[in-house]
Amino acid sequence: MSCFCCGSAPRIVEETEIIVKEPVVMAAPIKVAVTGAAGQIAYSLLYQIASGAVFGPNQPVYLHLLDIAPMMGVLNGVVMELADCALPLLAGVLPTANPEEAFKDVAAAFLVGSMPRKEGMERKDLLSANVRIFKEQGQALDKVARKDVKILVVGNPANTNALICSKYAPSIPRENFTAMTRLDHNRAQAQLADKLGVPVRDVKNVIIWGNHSSTQFPDASNALVNVGGINKPVPAAVNDDEYLKTTFVTTVQKRGAAVIAARKMSSALSAAKAASDHMRDWFLGTGDRWVSMGVISDGSYGTPRDVVFSFPVTVTNGKWKIVEGLTISDFAREMLDITGKELAEEKRDALEVCKD
Ligand code: NAI
Repeated sequence: MSCFCCGSAPRIVEETEIIVKEPVVMAAPIKVAVTGAAGQIAYSLLYQIASGAVFGPNQPVYLHLLDIAPMMGVLNGVVMELADCALPLLAGVLPTANPEEAFKDVAAAFLVGSMPRKEGMERKDLLSANVRIFKEQGQALDKVARKDVKILVVGNPANTNALICSKYAPSIPRENFTAMTRLDHNRAQAQLADKLGVPVRDVKNVIIWGNHSSTQFPDASNALVNVGGINKPVPAAVNDDEYLKTTFVTTVQKRGAAVIAARKMSSALSAAKAASDHMRDWFLGTGDRWVSMGVISDGSYGTPRDVVFSFPVTVTNGKWKIVEGLTISDFAREMLDITGKELAEEKRDALEVCKD
């Protein structure tokens, strides 16, 4: 039968439309190392990695878990729990006390494990114990990891550990070694959101400069707050320079100690979240946001070269780039110099320890 009005053949109308979905294409699994895997931070971090929050929902992961020999029993419990999570993206788990096994062919490494500060221990003793660990792990990464491996050092002193690790892994590009200041960054963002009474997502471009230590400089001078769809400078919105130079800075600097005082344990949950954020942004990009990352310094903003210094960075195609052209006030200059001096001293002490 033809159509009454135009005489053409009638259109056959399906009663139900079938929506053909593109099949989800899973990537080949990548190997991801986590050290200190029996510790507190790893306990939160492992779930985030294995659930897709870091490398994306279509990227299976094979977890290589490193801890020291006496912790293998505890680590075994963690392996059992990972199995019990029944995570579709978890392709396999390898628990080990051997760094070369742990870093074999890894595309990403979270170096969390380190020696905790014990009572009466001087900062120098802690540095000495930990840089030896990172020297050994640098050597192992150099030998067996993928040459494009992305390394995030969380274990303290994170910046200097990252520097030492890179020095002992000369076959891996130096820009692939980074230190975590993202927890401080997230803390700064949260403090400003609270001060302004806005959701944390409406604040961006805070900066943590320098060392992940009490000399770090949390800087709000370039931060923006979204008010009714328009980005406004945070300093104008806060309208309290004294607060931004004093209370804001010290609150962020001392937040770790405040959490320990309240919880009687360190800030493992937020540290794990920050490690996830850091690696996710490094792999998947930052868009137009800046994030703070400890990266090898090229002397930008008058900082000492060849230390791992936290800068504002953007990430595109897996490569970070320091944000250029920011104005540094006299106050900021003073703060950058203090934290830069500390990093130069830590580097000198660490290299001394590594000699033997
Ligand atoms: P934790 O003491 O609960 O766990 C540390 C784990 O590392 C332990 O299981 C220990 O056996 C292991 N470990 C020690 N030496 C090792 C080695 N040579 N190889 C492999 N594993 C080793 O400590 P938590 O709370 O998980 O913290 C880990 C580190 O992260 C500490 O150094 C802490 O100061 C640091 N941290 C850094 C932050 C940052 O923002 N960069 C924030 C919070 C903590």
